[in-house]
Amino acid sequence: MGTDKRHEIDPVLASEWLPIAYAHDIADQPIQVTILEERVVLFRTDDGIKAFKDLCIHRGAELSLGKVVNNCLVCPYHGWEYNQEGKCVKIPQQPARRVIPPKAKAVVFPCMERYGLVWVKLNKEETMASTLPEYEEFDDPSFKTVYANPHIINAAAPRVVENFLDVSHLAFVHEGSLGDSDHAEIPDYKVHWKDNRYVSDVIPVYADPDGTGKWSILNYTFEILRPLLARLKKVNEETNEIFSMLFAVQPQAERKSKIFALVSRNYDLETPDQYYIDFQQLIIDQDTAVVESQRPEELPLDLQAELHLPPDRVSIAYRRWLSELGVTYGSEVKKHKQMK
Ligand code: FES
Ligand SMILES: [Fe+2]
Repeated sequence: MGTDKRHEIDPVLASEWLPIAYAHDIADQPIQVTILEERVVLFRTDDGIKAFKDLCIHRGAELSLGKVVNNCLVCPYHGWEYNQEGKCVKIPQQPARRVIPPKAKAVVFPCMERYGLVWVKLNKEETMASTLPEYEEFDDPSFKTVYANPHIINAAAPRVVENFLDVSHLAFVHEGSLGDSDHAEIPDYKVHWKDNRYVSDVIPVYADPDGTGKWSILNYTFEILRPLLARLKKVNEETNEIFSMLFAVQPQAERKSKIFALVSRNYDLETPDQYYIDFQQLIIDQDTAVVESQRPEELPLDLQAELHLPPDRVSIAYRRWLSELGVTYGSEVKKHKQMK
């Protein structure tokens, strides 16, 4: 074994737009985030939020410990200044007229803001993942959207996404808050490939939409948008009340993830947002206890590995898709590959 323990970044996930922070959490001070074990510094400029590898080429200090001056990121150690394109434009120790070596630059990652989230790609190549799927509720004035608290969970990102897509657990993990174990039966449904995503049939579930005690049959639809991005919609057909969520997971390490979620509703618009933020936190806490207990920690993509029932069709489609796309991070495939 050499001393270089640098991990290989999963090329599929590195080509995805991955959620990295809520834009409103990025103020004047640069911050460090970890994505696929890569330390990334985020900072705000007049031209939007930028993301660099959190490493100064001079002596390896973390740029996130520095500050932003005139749209440049200033290293905390010797004050080198990097402009928005990552080019070093000032080395304070040398005369101003001396040429700065072209190698003096930061590694810049593609970064954009959408839906109030900051998204980063570790790989610059253009791929199908170059555009983000639509989440129409965000821009629809008849909906109100709140941001769930960012939530750390000690679990592999695919396990976390699969839990979000799992309709059967509502009656147990969320008994009394979202589901009812006396109404646990799930009618048969199918999952379809449509517009580059998986979409479930409408699944009628006896549920409470949001902990307010309005129990009724709600029509659930799940969509798997990308390997670590999903959404659900629940509709009360009688009142036309719609509750939607966009659910995005940041893989920090193989067994550590951060959840971001947008929670939208077209009813009870005057209810304080804090109610929905607190309710979502309750639900995420309930899920966390179970998901952190799952073994193996990585999601088995081999469909023979666990037992599946018809209500698990969304999960089956998810596992199959990860397998087809070649995602290895946070999945059991990696183990098998490594053992060969
Ligand atoms: S380590 Fe950054 S300027 Fe020296
Ligand atoms: Fe849940």
